[in-house]
Amino acid sequence: MPKKEYIQKMFAGISPHYDFLNRTLSLGRDIYWRRFAVAELPHGLILDVCSGTGDVAIEASSKRRVISSDFCREMTLLCSEKLKKLGIDNVFCVQNDSENLSFNDDTFDGAIVAFGIRNVADMEKALSEMYRVIKKDGKVIVLEFSRPENRFFRGIYYYYFKKILPVIGTLISKKSGAYSYLPSSVMAFPERRQFVEYMKRSGLKDIKYYDLTFGIVTIYAGIK
Ligand SMILES: C[S@@+](CC[C@H](N)C(=O)[O-])C[C@H]1O[C@@H](n2cnc3c(N)ncnc32)[C@H](O)[C@@H]1O
Repeated sequence: MPKKEYIQKMFAGISPHYDFLNRTLSLGRDIYWRRFAVAELPHGLILDVCSGTGDVAIEASSKRRVISSDFCREMTLLCSEKLKKLGIDNVFCVQNDSENLSFNDDTFDGAIVAFGIRNVADMEKALSEMYRVIKKDGKVIVLEFSRPENRFFRGIYYYYFKKILPVIGTLISKKSGAYSYLPSSVMAFPERRQFVEYMKRSGLKDIKYYDLTFGIVTIYAGIK
C-alpha cells in the first residue's frame, strides 16, 4: 500500500483515541509543546496543516483566525466537533492534502505543522507548499519529535518510547501498527541540521530551531 494511503487509514483508525493517547503517553507535555510552537506564530490568518483533531488550531485561535487542514476525514470531523463544543468560530476545518494544498499563493500570515511533517509521504513537497501559501515575510513553524542528544536520558527515553509506549498505545487504541510506527518514524526522521536543509530548500530563510524537554521535540521556524 502506498505510504499516503497507509497513513490516512492508520490515523482514521486511531482517531477516536488520538487526543486521550496524546495526553497520556506524553504525560501532558504535548499541550506545553504545542503552546510553545504556537507562540512563534504571527497574528492574522494561519494555516495549520496535518492538523489532526485541531489542537494547534485551537491553541492559536485565541489571537488568530485559523484554517485547520488534514487529509483524514475522521480527524477533520473530530476537529469540527471539538470547535462546536468549545464555541470557537474563528477556526475552520477542511480536508486537504498537505502535499497539494488547495489554497492560493501568498494567502496566510503563517503556517504550522505539529507532529505531521514526519508522516507526509513527500516532506519536501509539503514544506514547499507551506512556503507557497504564506505571504512574503510570513513564518513557517514546525514542531516535531527529535532524538535526544544526552546519552543517559536517551537510554531511559528510548526504553519508554520503543518498548512501553507501543504496548499502551495498542491496548487503548486496539490498533496494532500505529504506536510502533510512531517510534520507528521518529528514528527515521532527519537529524535537526538535515531538516533545516530541507526547510532551506523549500525557500525558507533565517531558520532557527530549539529543543524542548531534553530534546524529545524540536521547534523549527523559518521566514519566507
Ligand atoms: C500525528 S498527527 C498530528 C496532528 C496534530 N497536528 C497534533 O498536533 O496532534 C499527524 C496528522 O497528519 C495527517 N497527515 C499525514 N499526511 C498528511 C497529508 N499528506 N496531508 C494532510 N494530512 C496529513 C494525519 O492524518 C494526522 O492527522
